[in-house]
Amino acid sequence: MGSTMATTPHLQSNMSSYEEACERFSWEAAATALTGLPGGGLNICHETLDRHADGPDADTVALRWLGQDGTRREFTYAQLRTTAARFAGLLDELGVQPGERVFSLAGRVPELYAAALGALRHGAVFCPLFSAFGPEPVRQRLARGDGRVLVTTRALYDRKVAGIRDALPGLHHVLLVDDDLPGRLAAAAERPVAATGPQDPALLHFTSGTTGTPKGALHAHRAVIAHHVTARLALDLHPGDVYWCTADPGWVTGTSYGIVAPLTCGATMLVDEAEFNAARWYETLERERVTVLYTAPTAIRMLMRAGEEPRCHRDLGALRFVASVGEPLAADGVRWGEQALGTPIHDTWWQTETGAIMLANYPCEPVRAGSMGRPLPGIEAGIVRRDADGRAVRRPDGRPDLVDEPDVEGELALRTPWPSLFLGYLDDPERSAKCFAGDWYLSGDVARRDADGWYWFVGRGDDVIKTAGHLVGPFEIESALTDHPAVAEAAAIGVPDEVAGQIVLAKVILAPGHADSDALRREVRGHARRLLGAAIAPRRIDVVAELPHTRSGKVMRRLVRARELGLPEGDTSTLERAS
Ligand code: WT7
Repeated sequence: MGSTMATTPHLQSNMSSYEEACERFSWEAAATALTGLPGGGLNICHETLDRHADGPDADTVALRWLGQDGTRREFTYAQLRTTAARFAGLLDELGVQPGERVFSLAGRVPELYAAALGALRHGAVFCPLFSAFGPEPVRQRLARGDGRVLVTTRALYDRKVAGIRDALPGLHHVLLVDDDLPGRLAAAAERPVAATGPQDPALLHFTSGTTGTPKGALHAHRAVIAHHVTARLALDLHPGDVYWCTADPGWVTGTSYGIVAPLTCGATMLVDEAEFNAARWYETLERERVTVLYTAPTAIRMLMRAGEEPRCHRDLGALRFVASVGEPLAADGVRWGEQALGTPIHDTWWQTETGAIMLANYPCEPVRAGSMGRPLPGIEAGIVRRDADGRAVRRPDGRPDLVDEPDVEGELALRTPWPSLFLGYLDDPERSAKCFAGDWYLSGDVARRDADGWYWFVGRGDDVIKTAGHLVGPFEIESALTDHPAVAEAAAIGVPDEVAGQIVLAKVILAPGHADSDALRREVRGHARRLLGAAIAPRRIDVVAELPHTRSGKVMRRLVRARELGLPEGDTSTLERAS
């Protein structure tokens, strides 16, 4: 950065003392920052768009969209409201009922944002899918979520939906953003905000578990209270900020913090349609004068790898605050930010189920490099003792056995309730109930708390894989592999990768009559990629003669992983022994 570096306008951070903020905080008071609807109603579209479009911010840019090809389009709060209102009107025309699911499967195109906000305005439930998913994850999610409407593009429809459409009898309408949608929107009537209540369902995000099909975490309109509070306190968003959340709306971060949170703050949100490219990112930060950046450790590592060259002639002086989420951020990443971006990277922690940031390093105090930070005001966190099988220990009254002393590893838990806590997994009360012990939510992550109250990530308590910040369920991958006739059994594990954190590795046992060869492995891998999509398909496939099983017949992925990485095998008492 040269001498032309602009000075950051002095801005009072939204939190000046963490302790004070915690003491003063109440969710009731926090909710008054939003306006709500008459009679105690609450609707995310009203809080994100109408609140600004009806006031002095009507002409502030809500969405600044950068096309892959260099196109630049801007939508003010008033304009985005009009399009969202038309989309909501179109849903009425189509006969969509409140609570019915509207899915999207699209890259980061402007119509996706209008559809999300329009669906919320209508009272439908919005469910974004990642455009890099293959037909199988798309089918699973549309079927489980009983999608009534799908908003997608012609190309994605042809490649991923056409072949599965017959298996989705509940999918009544497909709207194509590059075909019939613009005309239908232009003709649609603007619909006022639906009279939703805080508890009414609004957003559905699929997430992966160790076993079984993906789980649909359902969130209510009340989540917007937490989106707003955390955007202010953990991301330090102010009206007028140019804010860039690099996550795709196909994942929860890209919706909570890539659509809802910034708009509740009256910020301008930047959306880049293109995929990661270091030179493009630095150029964008400079040209658009981005003030707040929310990204993922994988992206930070890619920037670090790209070196100084794409950065050295860029003026990043507008950038005031940078945060990351989704996977561990090592201390060297935090410090790199300081030197390369002019601000350390503030790690935050949360999950699809928590709906909003729960732990954070705050702008008003030094970052503890390598730590996920401390609980948001209004959030109580704890560490729960684990038994020999790694399960959270419950006391006789059902409450978790919380650890008092510092530096003990255990399951990270959060005391309920808070506004963005999920309503439960769709149609799966059993799996939902497993997440709770008394009035505590159990995260499934293993962590420790230091003597000063900062939380440190240790690992996941289950076999779920995090690759490039995306949560991938091993079962979904194994099912796609065993779908190939040559594969008898499969185990999917995450193995360390310098950039993506982890990559997916699959160990497969071949069916009788098939012999290992490069060609066969390539074919199986191609098959998995076609079904699953490039984002989650295994990067590498190894053919093995056997896999370790429990006596009840389940593959012990933990052991497969330990053996692959040369780690201690841990407790193998349930291992089935060859006789
Ligand atoms: C899992 C949740 C975070 C919202 C988007 C992803 C891992 C998240 C951190 C962090 C280490 C992290 C956890 C968590 N994770 N943040 N700061 N350090 N790990 O939501 O897809 O539901 O994933 O991401 O394992 O449980 P998600």
